[in-house]
Amino acid sequence: MTAASAPGKVILFGEHAVVSGAPALGTAIDLRARVSVEDLPGKTEIDIQGLGLRLSGFSIDSDGRVVSLGSSEESVAAARYVSAVVRALGVRDVRISVSSDIPVASGLGSSAAIVVATLAALSRHMGIDMDVRRIAAEAHRIEKMVQRGLGSPMDTALAAYGGYVLLSDGIAQVDLPPLDLVVGCTSVPHDTRAEVARVQELKSRYPEIVDPIFKAIGVISRKAVPCIKNMELEELGTLMNINHGLLEAIGVGTRELSELVYAARGAGSALGAKLTGAGGGGCMIALPREGTSQKTITAISQARGRAFVVRTGCDGVTVE
Ligand code: MEV
Repeated sequence: MTAASAPGKVILFGEHAVVSGAPALGTAIDLRARVSVEDLPGKTEIDIQGLGLRLSGFSIDSDGRVVSLGSSEESVAAARYVSAVVRALGVRDVRISVSSDIPVASGLGSSAAIVVATLAALSRHMGIDMDVRRIAAEAHRIEKMVQRGLGSPMDTALAAYGGYVLLSDGIAQVDLPPLDLVVGCTSVPHDTRAEVARVQELKSRYPEIVDPIFKAIGVISRKAVPCIKNMELEELGTLMNINHGLLEAIGVGTRELSELVYAARGAGSALGAKLTGAGGGGCMIALPREGTSQKTITAISQARGRAFVVRTGCDGVTVE
């Protein structure tokens, strides 16, 4: 048996703007997807466990199509990513078991982590030599294909490399200290592709307005790097608040997200808070004052969010 795991992520700054080439800063978090592979002569099977969901079983036919579907939409989506990796590597006669503690459809990089961990586990099992750079590139290609197209390589780069990634002209790993953030999830699932398409459409209608917003977001991403390096947390919080406002301006905020953001900044006394990922639902992040994570969690929970602490800068893909 071969097993691999890969982390989820939060985008700290620069979502959406990054799709149009502005810099974005993201980090791997301490929630992981795990994939194990064992031989199964004559069959190819995928088992999806956890994902905070039900246990479901899947089979794949000889063309790599998922033929027996489990019950939850999220499991079906996860199986589609695994099946795309199976097809890309031309693998058969294996059972692939997937489990994950990354909430799905929430902007925390669940699908990228599953693709990266599956690629790592399957390639090792088959004796295919894939270094982390190749895993990142191939995972991005596969994720893009399943999502039909629009995303940046941020999620797959973070799942593969871990740590912090500054994405602008290329993927740059940045050495920064870990932070404790509070994540607050709305119960509204989001659709990254639809949100990206809507923002890009807004940009093509109002380039003279949206381009400067993207430029400002890019400046924030770059300014954040020395702030984290020097642990200037008050300033980092301010940058989060400005970035949230700019994301609201391009229409990806929602009432539910803003309620959690304002609860975190108000009763939760966070230094800053913003939505993370594509918006339209999903999650927000807050930077708590030192020693007050619980206060921020309570404030978000009272605003009907599901809140928990994550540590940033965690390890990328590992094979056991
Ligand atoms: C989604 O997590 C972040 C977006 O910028 C899309 C992407 O970068 O692929 C909205």
